[in-house]
Formats: sequence, C-alpha cells, structure tokens
Amino acid sequence: PNFFALIPAAGSGSRMGDELPKQFLPLAGKPMIYYTLRALCASPRISCVFVVLAPHDGEWMRHDWSEFSGKLIVLECGGATRAESVLNGLKSARVTSSISDNDWVLVHDAARPCLGKAQLEKLMDELADDEVGGLLAVPVADTLKRSDTGNRVERTESRDKLWQAQTPQMFRYGLLVEALSRTGGIGMTDDAGAIEALGLRPRLILSDARNLKVTYPADLSLAELILRNL
Ligand code: C5P
Repeated sequence: PNFFALIPAAGSGSRMGDELPKQFLPLAGKPMIYYTLRALCASPRISCVFVVLAPHDGEWMRHDWSEFSGKLIVLECGGATRAESVLNGLKSARVTSSISDNDWVLVHDAARPCLGKAQLEKLMDELADDEVGGLLAVPVADTLKRSDTGNRVERTESRDKLWQAQTPQMFRYGLLVEALSRTGGIGMTDDAGAIEALGLRPRLILSDARNLKVTYPADLSLAELILRNL
C-alpha cells in the first residue's frame, strides 16, 4: 500500500481572534501551513500530500508553494466542519489520483506545524501492518478539573489512562471514507472518533508535546521556539 497525507486547512480559526485563518498566520516569516507541508513532503514514503482549502480561500494564492510542487495537490473543497473537509478531500483526492482502499492516509491538521521527522516515521513504522490504524498521542500530564458552571470546580477527574490525541492519524483510505460517511463526523473533532464509532479500536502511538496544535495566540510563539530547535 502507498502512503498519502491529507491536510484539512479550511478552518476559519475563530479562537485566535484574528482575521486571517490560523493556518496562514505568520510563523518565523512564513505562513504556519508552510511548516506543516514541509514536514509531510520531506518523508520519502509519502507519495502525495493533499491540502483541503475552503472553496473561496483568498490567502493560499498569495504565497509561493513551488518548493513542494512535486508532491502537493490542492483541493478547494473544504466543508463546514473538520470532518466534512476531510471527507470531501478524501473523495476528490481519488478523482485526481489513483488511490486504492487499502492505501494509508495520514490526516494531519494544518495547525500542527511542529511535527517532527521521528514522530512521523514512528507512526508509519508502527502502524504499517496494523489492522485498524491509529494516531500520535501523549498521556495527559495536567490535573483535570470538571466545571459545569464554567468557573467553579465540581470535581477532579482522574487523568489515569487518558491520552491527548494529536495528528497525524493514519487509517486505510477505504475504512476512513466509510467511517466518516456513516457518522457524518457529527460531534467528532478527529478522524479516530469516526473509526471508533464503527466499533474499531485505533492504536495510540506515543508522541511528544512538541507536536502541539496552535489554537490560542500564545501557542504561536511556542511553536516558533519549537521549530527553531526541531
Ligand atoms: O479548529 P481546529 O483547530 O479544530 O481545526 C483543526 C484543523 O481542521 C485545522 O487545520 C483547520 O484548518 C481544519 N478545519 C477544516 N475545515 C473546517 C474546520 C477546521 O479543514 N470546517
């Protein structure tokens, strides 16, 4: 089977409080998604990287992507939710390229620009013969508090056995399309959730905290620091 990557990059990034969607926010002089693409395109095992943009994205064309021209395919078919963007992207990827149900797809958030080579290769190594597929993840390090009212603690939740899901998440093309089509991705914030809804159990591949998701403004400077030392 071949390995493909798909990057959903059609979000509006409302939590950043910025006009520019967060995947295009500047990070050490380049749009954030530049580093995300660079990480995936650098792997010799990944034959093609699909980027899913919002249909009326106005930002992508402002930048030069020729560095990735051998591997990169742009699809302008983003949807209202991440799951919809991924499913639309998977379907149009098959129109532009020959992909079989058995091929692996690595879905990776544009907003995780600090993916390291070692983590990416480990994910592919450890899952290549897996029945289901899986994802990079880290055990929860902080103490978890539940608050039903928003600012007062109801109780402390045990962090024992809890993991934080990262991306890439790697599944067979056919299985992922089926999972996302059946569930519609409703209430799901990652791809593994749709696979779990089919009754399957994705494998957790130990990653590290450097592969952070840029969500809030403070994450930007942290990401810059990590990139400088990657
Ligand atoms: O908003 P959040 O951080 O969960 O977004 C994760 C990833 O999903 C981002 O790369 C974002 O661009 C993408 N996304 C998308 N289509 C949407 C919403 C989010 O491709 N409708």
